[in-house]
Amino acid sequence: MYSTLLVFHSLIRWLVLVFILYSIYRAFVGLVNDRAFSKTDNAFRHWTATVAHIQLMIGIILYTKSPLVKYFWKEKESSFQNLELTFYGLIHIILMLTAIVVVTIGSAKAKRQQTNKKKFKTMLVWFSIALIIIFIAIPWPFLPFSGRPYFRIF
Ligand code: HEM
Repeated sequence: MYSTLLVFHSLIRWLVLVFILYSIYRAFVGLVNDRAFSKTDNAFRHWTATVAHIQLMIGIILYTKSPLVKYFWKEKESSFQNLELTFYGLIHIILMLTAIVVVTIGSAKAKRQQTNKKKFKTMLVWFSIALIIIFIAIPWPFLPFSGRPYFRIF
């Protein structure tokens, strides 16, 4: 179960990135061109938050199953000396939870705004902040500590 969850968690990262990037692009173009907030814009607002929530749920289960995380909490003192353990035990979860809260607030706020301009602006600002946090918290293969693959297969 652990390795299956890891494969899905790794893959869904791309879905999260595609949805959030495309929503930001739509919000930017909509704002610049002063156009109406369409049903498609609203669908991307909604689905970006939903995909982030699916990733959150998988992440929470993964957190309870991960041998790295288990080791981190068992050997707390010495684990803080190890960047990989600290990353998966604390940094990744804190940053990703923050990013998903930001996406959720942004999505809810954009929905409640009264004008097209305000809807686009809210989505643009909140989703961009979340994207930066997500990008920082992903264990990219090029990172010196515990870089994970771009694509994990079964
Ligand atoms: C937008 C949100 C998130 C993204 C994009 C994301 C992305 C990733 C990626 C790419 C990996 C590496 C997968 C691999 O080894 O191939 C990973 C690992 C992990 N993630 Fe996330 N994650 C997110 C949120 C979360 C959350 C909220 C939690 C916990 C509540 C979490 C827990 C974990 C754990 C425990 C691992 C490492 C498991 C292990 O190697 O034993 N993730 N994440």
